[in-house]
This record gives sequence, C-alpha cells and structure tokens, in this order.
Amino acid sequence: MSAKRGYGDPVISQEHEQVVFGRDPRTGLRAMVAIHSTALGPSLGGCRMRPYADEQAMVADALLLSKAMSYKNALAGLDHGGGKAVIWGDPARDKSRDLFLAMGEFIATLGGRYITAGDVGTTVADLDVIHETNPWTTGRSPDKGGSGDTGILTAYGMQQAMRAVAKHVWGSDSLEGKVIGISGAGKVGGRLAVHLVREEGAEVVITDPLPDMVAKVVEQVPVEVVSSTDELISRPLDIYSPNALGHALTMDVAQRLDCTAVCGAANNQLASPEVATVLAERGILYAPDYLVNCGGVVQAAEEIPGFDMDRARGRVAKVYDTTLRVLERAQAEGILPEQAAAEEAEERMAAGSGAFRRF
Ligand SMILES: NC(=O)c1ccc[n+]([C@@H]2O[C@H](COP(=O)([O-])OP(=O)(O)OC[C@H]3O[C@@H](n4cnc5c(N)ncnc54)[C@H](O)[C@@H]3O)[C@@H](O)[C@H]2O)c1
Repeated sequence: MSAKRGYGDPVISQEHEQVVFGRDPRTGLRAMVAIHSTALGPSLGGCRMRPYADEQAMVADALLLSKAMSYKNALAGLDHGGGKAVIWGDPARDKSRDLFLAMGEFIATLGGRYITAGDVGTTVADLDVIHETNPWTTGRSPDKGGSGDTGILTAYGMQQAMRAVAKHVWGSDSLEGKVIGISGAGKVGGRLAVHLVREEGAEVVITDPLPDMVAKVVEQVPVEVVSSTDELISRPLDIYSPNALGHALTMDVAQRLDCTAVCGAANNQLASPEVATVLAERGILYAPDYLVNCGGVVQAAEEIPGFDMDRARGRVAKVYDTTLRVLERAQAEGILPEQAAAEEAEERMAAGSGAFRRF
C-alpha cells in the first residue's frame, strides 16, 4: 500500500502512529483502535459498532475514521490528535455488559494515548459501561460525570457554521427567510431545525423516513415536511443540509441539487472526491463536513477537565470563525474549501509539539 496525502483517501497505511487489535473470546469482542496522530495531544474519537462484512472492511473504516478525526480535532482547535475505536458486531444483537467491559480493558491498555467517545452503534449507556474499566472515556451520561448526547452541541455548531456560510455567500450572517432543507431529523438534524426556525427565522423543509423523528420537530416549531430526501433535493433551496448517512452527496445528487450551499453534519458526505469539484463547477459552495460538525467532539473533549455547558458552548461557537476563515482562504487561493480545510488542519498538526507522543 502506498501512503497518500490528504483526508479522504480510501486506504491509508504508514501514516498511522499505532494500530492495535483486541480480541476476547470470552465475551466475543473483536475490535481495534487506530491512532492516526498524537501530534497535538492524546488522540480522541468515537467508538463505532458495526456488523462489518469482513476484517478488511473493519480495518479500512478504523483507519479512515481515525485520520478524519485528526483533521476534525485540529480544525476545532482541540489539543487532541485523531483516533477511533471500532467493534465488529451488530449493535442490535451482539451488545452485552461484558463486551463493553472488555472493550474498556482493551482501550485502557493504550494508557491514555486514545480517549474514546460515542459514535454510530454505541450509546451513552454503553460508554458508561466502558468507563467502568477505562478512565479514558467521554460521551458518558450526565449523572456519571459526562455531558450526555453530543448531538446537542453538534447541532449548535452547525447553526454557527451555517451563519458563517451565509456571511461568506450573501454578505450577512442572517439566516432569516433562508430556505434550508434538512435531510435527517435525528439527534443533530432535529435540533438543528429547531435552532434555525426559533433563533434564526429560517424556513426549514425537513425529511426523515421515521415519522416519530419528524413529529418531534413539528411539535416544537413550524417546518414543512417532505416525504423523501429525493423530493427535498429537487426543491430550490438556499442551503441543503445532509444530517443522515454518509455518502449523501453522490455525483447524481451533486448534479441535481438546486441550492447555493451545502452544509450538513453527516460524516463522509462526499461519495467520491470528484463530487466536490462538480459542486464547485455548478456554483454550489460545499462546507466540508469535518469542519462544520465538530461540536460533538468538542463537547466530548470538554468532559475531560469536567463538563461545563457554558464553557463548551463558547468553544463550539468558534466554528463560526474557523468556517469563515477556511471559506475565505479557499476563495483567495482559488482552491476547494475541502482543500483549504485540509491545509489548515495539516498546518496545525505540523506545528504541534508532538510532546505527548511516547511509546
Ligand atoms: N451526534 C453527533 O454528535 C454527531 C457529530 C458529528 C457528526 N455526526 C453525524 O451526523 C449524522 C447524524 O447523526 P445523528 O447523531 O443525528 O444520528 P441519528 O441516528 O440520531 O439521526 C439520523 C437520522 O437520519 C434518518 N435517516 C436515515 N436515512 C435517511 C434518509 N435516507 N433520508 C433522510 N433521513 C434519513 C434516521 O431516521 C435518523 O432519524 C451522522 O452521519 C453522524 O455520523 C453526528
């Protein structure tokens, strides 16, 4: 495997500092931790649980996700490198208290070089169990010293990032009257919709295949509901916000979107790097996902010194300045925002002392 440069490469190799596998036949645990970088401090990133097709798929996911965390954490201004843990299993079938206790023991062998958090397939309750055997655990419930659902500050950060996008595109950070299409009314998208209507005066059009998720939003604020993401992207929008699954921006979607900007929380939105180019060619500004969705990891990092919501919110609010700076840099240098974001992150990592790094 050859080492490629830049966030988003499908396969990574020699770039990672440390990759460790963990197996525990007693509990059925099959897991790994990938530490991409500790240049800025101990690595931080979520613990994902997925029924991977095979071991190679698990390895590829952990390597890519941990690298993405290095970039996200660097851009968020955190003194943390990037790391990720993955458990190979079906969250609906394979979870047990013993499995998560074993996972905690496995992570603890790294002695704090990797700090875990929640991710797809793991819950606050699972993180509480991991914490019993591993002190380097965030994303815990408030009564266990954690901050709870990180969707809270991810949504708040998205709101600030959208204001920065508006400032860059329309010259004012007001979102009043802007038509914003939200795909996915979950922990992030649902809260984002409420912020946008209530605090910004935006007109939100929303979709989610689960009626209950939509109902929760409709109970709180007036929004227009459409039946599918497909219908949403055929509508003229000011901002399109994917907040559901990865790879939401396929070539087909990029060619059909009728909007000024894309700004959403879903991780790995670009189905392929070429999609960013197509969006730019069509005059659609794409705000990189790992730049704008950092609120959750900032919330998790804020648990380490002891969580304080006001302090955490203050840190997350900085995503406004970072987003604006990256978009202005991209414009000034004639490069894609994706590239400008990657350059900012790489510069910060290169300037990192690496003082934490130790084997
Ligand atoms: N929660 C966080 O703190 C956080 C932080 C950073 C990034 N993200 C990313 O943001 C995205 C959303 O996270 P979340 O925590 O809100 O997840 P979630 O599971 O709470 O919500 C996702 C929602 O998307 C809906 N959905 C599924 N398929 C859809 C489709 N085809 N069209 C429209 N909606 C669809 C689901 O029904 C669900 O309600 C994920 O990609 C996640 O990785 C989340």
